[in-house]
Amino acid sequence: MYQTLVTHLENGIFTITINRPDKLNALNQQVMSDLDNVMDEVYRNDEIKSVIITGAGPKAFVAGADISEFSGASVEEGKALAKRGQDIFFKIERSPKPVVACVNGFALGGGCELAMSCHFRLAAENAKFGQPEVNLGLIPGYGGTQRLVQLIGKGRALELLMSAGMIDANIALQLGLVNYVVPQDELIKKAIAILELINTKAPIAVAKCIESANAVFDETRDGFTVEVNAFGDCFATADMKEGTSAFLEKRKAIFKGN
Ligand code: COA
Repeated sequence: MYQTLVTHLENGIFTITINRPDKLNALNQQVMSDLDNVMDEVYRNDEIKSVIITGAGPKAFVAGADISEFSGASVEEGKALAKRGQDIFFKIERSPKPVVACVNGFALGGGCELAMSCHFRLAAENAKFGQPEVNLGLIPGYGGTQRLVQLIGKGRALELLMSAGMIDANIALQLGLVNYVVPQDELIKKAIAILELINTKAPIAVAKCIESANAVFDETRDGFTVEVNAFGDCFATADMKEGTSAFLEKRKAIFKGN
C-alpha cells in the first residue's frame, strides 16, 4: 500500500517503519507522500489506537531529508518543500491518537524533525540526534527550529542548530529530548508497553490531552481556554460517565471511545 513504509497493526498499536535502509531512511518526496497518506489512515481507522514511528535497519531512524532532491531547487521550490514538510509533520503532531518515535539510530535533519513532531520519543542506546543543515548551507525546514527550542530551550537548541552538532542518546535524555534510553532490541517493546497502558485510558480524554498540550505552542490559541473547553467537552462523553462511575463503584473502567 505504501512504497516506502512497512506498517503493522497489532492490538490497536500501529507501527510505521520507514523503509529505505540503504539510504538510511532519508525522507525523499515518496516517503513524505507516504507519511502524509499513512497519517490519514491513522486518523480514519478506528482500529488504530496509537502509533509507533521507527526506521528500518539497525543504523538509522532517518538520516534527514533526501539531500539529492535539493540541488537545483529555486527559492519558491525551497519554500514549497518546507511548507509541505511542515504540514505533514503538523498532521503527526495534531494526531488525536498518541504517536511515539522509536529512534533506532541517526535522527538527523528531517529525521530529528520527524521525531520531534511525535508526541514523545524513546531512544535506542545508539541513537544520535542533530540538525546538521548548516553544513549544507541550509536550515531545518520541517519545523526543527521551532520544536527544538520548544523541547530543549533556546540556548541549547541554537548551539546545536548553529554548530551542526550531534548529541547521543544519553545527552538527549538529559536535555529532555527523549523520555527513555533503552538497548536497541528493547526499543519497540518499551514503546508497546507504554502505549498498551495509554490504550486502556479514555481515548477522547487522551486526544484532548494532546490538543491542550499542543496549544501551549500555538500563538493563535489560548491554551488555558482550550483546556477549559476540552475539560467541559469530556462531560458529554460516555467514557467520562463510565470512568467516574467505575471509580465510585470501585471497579475497573471499561472505555469505549465515545
Ligand atoms: N539524503 C540522501 N542520502 C543519504 C542521506 C540523506 N540525508 N543520509 C545518508 N544517505 C545515503 C548516503 O548517500 C549513502 O548512499 P550510497 O550508499 O548510495 O552512497 C547511504 O545513505 C549510507 O550513508 P553513508 O553516508 O555511507 O553512511 P555513514 O555511516 O558513513 O554516515 C551519516 C552516516 C548519517 C553520518 C551520513 O550519512 C550523513 O551525514 N548523512 C547526511 C546527514 C544530513 O546532513 N542530514 C540532514 C539533511 S537536510
